[in-house]
Amino acid sequence: MIRLIYISTARATLSSAELDGILRTSRRNNAAVNVTGLLIVGGRRFLQTLEGPSSAVMQTYERIKGDARHFAAVILDNRPITERSFPGWAMGHQPSGTLRGDATIAKDVAALIAPITDPTVRVYFAEFARKHAT
Ligand SMILES: Cc1cc2nc3c(=O)[nH]c(=O)nc-3n(C[C@H](O)[C@H](O)[C@H](O)COP(=O)(O)O)c2cc1C
Repeated sequence: MIRLIYISTARATLSSAELDGILRTSRRNNAAVNVTGLLIVGGRRFLQTLEGPSSAVMQTYERIKGDARHFAAVILDNRPITERSFPGWAMGHQPSGTLRGDATIAKDVAALIAPITDPTVRVYFAEFARKHAT
């Protein structure tokens, strides 16, 4: 198994309906190939973790990278893992309050990563939330 973490930038700020569409597709496709993870949106930035069988994660990432709704995808971390950080989520996501602007991303992300023990995952998500705190 591997775990890949990347950041990218949306071409335009996504509506919550567009984001819901991405999450629906992600959950369907990822569940079919045993990929799990977390997708966080902060302004126009995405931070996503994909974890699962190496070939499934890489194929999923290549498809995501080619998506015209975002650009400048940069892999922050890509390494073998023995345990998943998000075993229960075909694609986890922050509560929509953050996107509506009536909750803070820092608080939402803190709750999402509270059960995570992997230090790399914790640091990337906490740092992203801090940078995009509103
Ligand atoms: C930020 C972002 C994250 C995405 N994450 C996933 C994902 O985890 N899994 C997935 O299958 N598609 C994801 N997508 C969508 C893919 O780029 C692509 O549209 C989709 O996989 C096509 O699936 P379909 O052929 O079943 O419609 C993401 C797109 C964006 C913009």
